[in-house]
Amino acid sequence: MKPRTVLVTGSSGLIGSEAVEYFDRQGCRVIGVDNNMRRVFFGAAGDTTWNLERLKRATRRFTPENLDIRDRAAMDALFRANRFDLVVHCAAQPSHDKAREIPILDFEVNALGTLNLLEATRQHSPDAVFVLMSTNKVYGDAPNELPLRELATRYDYARPEDAEGIAETCRIDQTLHSLFGASKAAADILAQEYGRYFGMKVGIFRGGCLTGPSHSGVELHGFLSYLVKVAMTGGTYTVFGYKGKQVRDNIHSHDVVRAIDEFAANPRPGEVYNLGGGRANSISILEAIAWVESLTGKKLAWKHVGEPRRGDHICYISDLRKLQRHYPNWRVTFGLGEILKQIVESQAEQLQASRAVPASPA
Ligand SMILES: NC(=O)c1ccc[n+]([C@@H]2O[C@H](COP(=O)([O-])OP(=O)(O)OC[C@H]3O[C@@H](n4cnc5c(N)ncnc54)[C@H](O)[C@@H]3O)[C@@H](O)[C@H]2O)c1
Repeated sequence: MKPRTVLVTGSSGLIGSEAVEYFDRQGCRVIGVDNNMRRVFFGAAGDTTWNLERLKRATRRFTPENLDIRDRAAMDALFRANRFDLVVHCAAQPSHDKAREIPILDFEVNALGTLNLLEATRQHSPDAVFVLMSTNKVYGDAPNELPLRELATRYDYARPEDAEGIAETCRIDQTLHSLFGASKAAADILAQEYGRYFGMKVGIFRGGCLTGPSHSGVELHGFLSYLVKVAMTGGTYTVFGYKGKQVRDNIHSHDVVRAIDEFAANPRPGEVYNLGGGRANSISILEAIAWVESLTGKKLAWKHVGEPRRGDHICYISDLRKLQRHYPNWRVTFGLGEILKQIVESQAEQLQASRAVPASPA
């Protein structure tokens, strides 16, 4: 059988790189698109070159392309040259807070870039499965309307009927999204339309906190990865508002890609799924700090500023029941302990590599 050809955008990022390795391991031909724009957004700390180099060593049939998804002609040429069976779209400006400084760039990458890819798929690979990585920020701050109770180290939902978390039925309009949430909502709705209107095999995953060892964590994006980085390099971590009791559900990048693969095997056009670690993998910032301190054996210097990030979720847990109902073979396989252990190991390796003195030329 001819191997599948897979396009991964954002292939040097957290989810993209996991997808590249996963599909390469399955014997697929994988083409990656990434122009290291994470460095443009977040500076040197966001540079993903280390991950690209790691991927080149770890894969067999991976071709990286230094292309920009905003460049419609380049996307068109890429799709003319290759017939894709699967498109995993992970390239993005991923930060809620960063978008306010770069509204046009944020929209061009997140919304227009997605439209370029959807349309190129429709024109040249209409039978391909297309997966968009969307975000729980499409719900804006509507999840904050649920009644909460305050516990010693975290907030939680007050009513038993909310215990499983936020479902896909949460409304997406008339809430405060941030510009990032708005550009991602535009992409999310466009992708749904390519599924519903054109009948293409498009699926949308609205991520909670996606995490794993391949994140180039920075203050504005990559909660656990950045927390571990600060703990290990000795900076000061800033907690914004809600007394550090705000809760996130964390999912390992491998479990994200497993969900994408399940969808690809049995696509449901235009369907939307919440995708996070669920209640078992939920953690507050205070709890995460304590856990990281015990894992690294280092005391984390942190400070609290009273003002929360605008539109920040107070307690967000992804309701995974729809995804599990449609794809019973999928489940969360990495618990928080294993996730944190892997992030600590990866940060230690990166630190070691950055300290290594390059050999002088002969
Ligand atoms: N990490 C999370 O917690 C999280 C949560 C919810 C949703 N998501 C979504 O999942 C997807 C993947 O997130 P991630 O954490 O892997 O992000 P990431 O920043 O690690 O990876 C994104 C990659 O896209 C690349 N990129 C950005 N703009 C580009 C462009 N114009 N052309 C080509 N490449 C470009 C970047 O260089 C980067 O390597 C994004 O759509 C993000 O919004 C992430």
